[in-house]
Amino acid sequence: MTETAPVPTAPLRARAEIDLGALRANVRTLRARVGDAAVMAVVKADGYGHGALPCARAAVEAGATWLGTATPEEALALRAAGLTQRVLCWLWVPGGPWRQAIEADIDVSVSGMWALDEVTAAARAAGRPARVQLKADTGLGRNGCQPGADWAELVAAALRAEGDGLVRVTGLWSHFACADEPGHPSITAQLTRFREMVAYAEEQGVRPEVRHIANSPATLTLPETHFDLVRPGIAMYGLSPSPELGTPADFGLRPVMTLSASLALVKHVPGGHGVSYGHHYVTPGATTLGLVPLGYGDGIPRHASGAGPVLVDGKWRTAAGRVAMDQFVVDLSGDEPPVGAEAVLFGPGDRGEPTAEDWAAACGTIAYEIVTRIGTRVPRVYVNEEERG
Ligand SMILES: Cc1ncc(COP(=O)(O)O)c(C=O)c1O
Repeated sequence: MTETAPVPTAPLRARAEIDLGALRANVRTLRARVGDAAVMAVVKADGYGHGALPCARAAVEAGATWLGTATPEEALALRAAGLTQRVLCWLWVPGGPWRQAIEADIDVSVSGMWALDEVTAAARAAGRPARVQLKADTGLGRNGCQPGADWAELVAAALRAEGDGLVRVTGLWSHFACADEPGHPSITAQLTRFREMVAYAEEQGVRPEVRHIANSPATLTLPETHFDLVRPGIAMYGLSPSPELGTPADFGLRPVMTLSASLALVKHVPGGHGVSYGHHYVTPGATTLGLVPLGYGDGIPRHASGAGPVLVDGKWRTAAGRVAMDQFVVDLSGDEPPVGAEAVLFGPGDRGEPTAEDWAAACGTIAYEIVTRIGTRVPRVYVNEEERG
């Protein structure tokens, strides 16, 4: 081992720094793009790994008036933490906590008759109407009600439930399949279908407060999709939905998460030394190795083996050999940073560090997955929590 003393102010083993100032600025940038449309801050999956509650609060401070979650548990957690904004929650299975959601004033999404039946029964039991948003499958081919007879049946049943005082239909909505692929023909097709399905429901008597279909790529690049509300997720966290659309800076966005670790070991090894499980990396000559105490147990993709970039001592290094559960190694090419030196996996990029997009490219995935999968073993450290006056 290299004889260097530990850095005195050694940071935590690893940390995901979350810049809430950047998040607020991103929300304001998005609001400026959408004019009168409301912004729903999507905070599902623990705020894409950034922490749902601090991010929801910061987004609200910056003017988001709705919050969006996938599961009812995520929505109820926002209420339990005291957030009072409108919340839409869209991923339900039979037997879900409909009544708790109604009593917590959460807007619930309904994609089919089974869900409408359950929500009206829960509203009857709760003695108060449910706020329901009908979701149309305009072409994504995932959740949502099919156009045609299924939509007609769902709209008619929702109107009957509204007439019975069990439901208030607050929204009509859908989700894009390929909004991140400029010019993809499905975008226009979905928009046309959405307009048709909304028009049908309104002709039948539905009076929604909000009609919405735009995720981040649509919010950023397709103004005709904004309607009454937009639902950005990834853009709020300062990442571009896809490199094809542009960089975060192209849209005035700043990445919110910086992932770093303290080198746990720096040592000299001879040439021909196998590194990590399977010996998929063998040192080409005498060199120094640095041990990064993060692994797939922390959400670092094993696919980053031999590929993931890390800034150490002013230079990009590459994960040498396999990423293990708790650690991986970088070849420091003879440099000797002290043990405890900072290794930055990704961040905004302005200190010369890689970005989440660089990790996505190295691992054959998308930046969404890189940030979202960072696990609970990595402490989130919030900075710029207070809005500066
Ligand atoms: C229904 C729905 N709306 C909005 C979003 C936000 O998408 P994005 O992160 O691309 O803005 C998601 C995320 O996948 C979603 O599932």
